[in-house]
Amino acid sequence: MDLKGKRIVLGLSGGVACYKAAELCRLLSKEGASVQVVMSEAACHFITPVTMQALSGQPVYTDQWDGRIANNMAHIDLTREADAVLIAPCSADFIRKLAHGACDDLLSTLCVARPARVPLMIAPAMNVEMWQNPATQRNVATVRADGVHVFGPGAGAQACGETGLGRMLEPAELMEELIAAFQPKVLKGRRVLITAGPTFEAIDPVRGITNLSSGKMGYAVARAAREAGADVILVSGPTTLPTPHGVQRIDVKSAQQMYDVVMGAIGGQHVFIGVAAVADWRVVNASDHKVKKQEGASLDLKFAQNPDILASVASTTTLSGWPYCVGFAAESENLVEYGASKRIKKGIPLLVGNIGHHTFGSDDNEIVLFDDTGHTVLPRADKLTLARQLISEIAKRIEMNSLLT
Ligand code: C5P
Repeated sequence: MDLKGKRIVLGLSGGVACYKAAELCRLLSKEGASVQVVMSEAACHFITPVTMQALSGQPVYTDQWDGRIANNMAHIDLTREADAVLIAPCSADFIRKLAHGACDDLLSTLCVARPARVPLMIAPAMNVEMWQNPATQRNVATVRADGVHVFGPGAGAQACGETGLGRMLEPAELMEELIAAFQPKVLKGRRVLITAGPTFEAIDPVRGITNLSSGKMGYAVARAAREAGADVILVSGPTTLPTPHGVQRIDVKSAQQMYDVVMGAIGGQHVFIGVAAVADWRVVNASDHKVKKQEGASLDLKFAQNPDILASVASTTTLSGWPYCVGFAAESENLVEYGASKRIKKGIPLLVGNIGHHTFGSDDNEIVLFDDTGHTVLPRADKLTLARQLISEIAKRIEMNSLLT
């Protein structure tokens, strides 16, 4: 319930993407938000206010002269208690109106009349040529400069049959953007590199050795870092998880590939967080072709140690403390003792210990932070909540780091 108690004015302008606004409205309610829908006249051609009323559970406003509001000032009343105004879909024409401060219908007027503390967010949705038109781009630049949050648009096949930029982001992506907008920007301007998931060490072209890491914790940390305003690169072993919105993901399989990608990208990073469950060993006599079963024969595998990515990154730490390195450790016993010594062994300022190895695949976790002052327990919670707490702890420590250097 990331939007519990938040009051969102959901504005619909004209566009075929109005059908996605119905799903968005549902997701907003599911996350605990109360949704006040306002529709332009054009939007009512694409989807009916009846549908939006049923989904939001509140009367829908479409007309500046709607007499249902006692003082007849819907444009003022509807935004005074709001936490955000989100226009989805936002047409090229509506962006033009915003750029010029137009007040010629209820939706445009309430955008201009909203209190300065209420953020305005738009999800552009239009044909690719309309999006690329210099006039639209000028208007987008103007609204950005005015502080409007612009979510998307995405690229791909369009309802008109053409392909390119201009698709409204999917409702789930817009939810991620909206939720992120409410998170404190404690890592704004920072570059963060994160590893996540298991590694896969090949035995032959169709077989290999892996582990039970699902990648959920690493992906949650990547999402939380991005929500906090960082530029995030996620180097991921094989997982089935969707990429957090706005995160650059690089897929790898083996520990050696993960090492190569991380070492190639680490220059200029402010933070490195090694969440991946990296295999300690790889098969050195892996076969180029599928190993055939032979009656009575055994298979001898030889192993060599993989490079320790975290320790290697930590050894590149400059005198000014960058990149700030964070490791993860799953221990089945004596976590406090092992965690403290592992942090020192890896040469890192912060180590996150998982209590038990039950964390693999589960949706929640319980973690302990080890630094040079001792350890702190972050009690059991879902992985995204813990990831946000961890990011805030990292940000505090970086802040101290920057003050010292
Ligand atoms: O030594 P151990 O595997 O317990 O350490 C776990 C931490 O070290 C994790 O942060 C993991 O991502 C990192 N690690 C690594 N490269 C390895 C092994 C572990 O980066 N080869």
